[in-house]
Amino acid sequence: MKVGVIGLGMGRAHLQAYKAFAQAEIVGIADLDESRLKASAAEYGIGHTFTDYHQLLALPELEAVSVCLPNHLHEPVTVDALRARKHVLVEKPMARTPAEARAMKEVAEASGKVLGISMNYRWIVGPDSWYLKHLIEQGRLGHIYYVRAYTLRRRTFPRGHKTWFTQKALSGGAALMDMGPHLLDLAMWLAGDYRPKQVSGTTRTALMTDTDVDDFGVVLVRMAGGAAIYLESTWASFTRPGVGLVVMGTEGGAILDLSAPQGKRLTVMGAEGETHQEITPVDIQLPFTPEASIQEHFIRRVAAGQQPETTAERGLAVVQVIDGAYRSSQSGHEVVIE
Ligand SMILES: NC(=O)c1ccc[n+]([C@@H]2O[C@H](COP(=O)([O-])OP(=O)(O)OC[C@H]3O[C@@H](n4cnc5c(N)ncnc54)[C@H](O)[C@@H]3O)[C@@H](O)[C@H]2O)c1
Repeated sequence: MKVGVIGLGMGRAHLQAYKAFAQAEIVGIADLDESRLKASAAEYGIGHTFTDYHQLLALPELEAVSVCLPNHLHEPVTVDALRARKHVLVEKPMARTPAEARAMKEVAEASGKVLGISMNYRWIVGPDSWYLKHLIEQGRLGHIYYVRAYTLRRRTFPRGHKTWFTQKALSGGAALMDMGPHLLDLAMWLAGDYRPKQVSGTTRTALMTDTDVDDFGVVLVRMAGGAAIYLESTWASFTRPGVGLVVMGTEGGAILDLSAPQGKRLTVMGAEGETHQEITPVDIQLPFTPEASIQEHFIRRVAAGQQPETTAERGLAVVQVIDGAYRSSQSGHEVVIE
């Protein structure tokens, strides 16, 4: 499949993943920054480079494109790409608002092209993530009723650093909007439920007071199936940094510590009679071979005429939770998701 990448910050990771997958061929890239274009073209031997992404989308041979732009450009550029009849893998968050995400989903459905959202952490923290999901699917943890996710940073950018990330009009938010999609996607995936019903949240700008974005956010989500998801996220805080999830089921539980190296990342809890057990799998043998990256997954699904795991619908559900948390924080009330 002939692919392109728009935006060469995180987009460079997309190039690397496409390069590593034999079924993908990179035909072109686009970025406003000519030095980034030049560097990536040289590194990956790419013939077509454009400062205007419309010219990339006009290449007739191009079949799919990664949109790796600042958040405020996800909706317009994804829509342009879908209308140009390209499949799209757009970076997280899918969009700044549910309205933008819904518009993207509708254009994808009308175009018949595939729209996937690059909520890629389950690929990044394999094999532990896959093994945990496998145990859950086998019923080894019983019914999952709670997932607590956390992503705690001491500092993301130095004070005074100006970037689109720290301007709410461009990013849509920070602590929840930036890391929230990864953790909410993992939590909903492990809970087996992407149907958020009610959201209660509190956000604030506690330390990054030279910006208008949240550096702290907590959200409680009640899912349609009855599970509760709790997310705690900081972009700046006085705490010990870490990223992970705590999963509780009626027969067992698990802790997936994304900050830990493989071999120390997953802990699974269970019981043998009255004895509680705790194991840390070190040499995981999966009963299947997961794709090496979300890019490989996306290309394989598109080639098979299927939707990827991280669909537009799931991307929208995640954005609805984040938006609900911001609105709940403002109003002081729980937000019901339609
Ligand atoms: N999945 C992940 O783990 C992950 C990690 C980092 C960033 N991201 C996401 O990737 C996206 C981009 O973030 P980033 O860190 O790469 O930002 P960045 O600012 O480093 O890179 C954005 C690039 O887009 C280019 N650009 C801006 N406007 C453009 C336009 N109109 N046409 C063409 N190019 C344009 C800029 O020149 C820049 O090179 C964001 O949505 C972010 O949330 C995802």
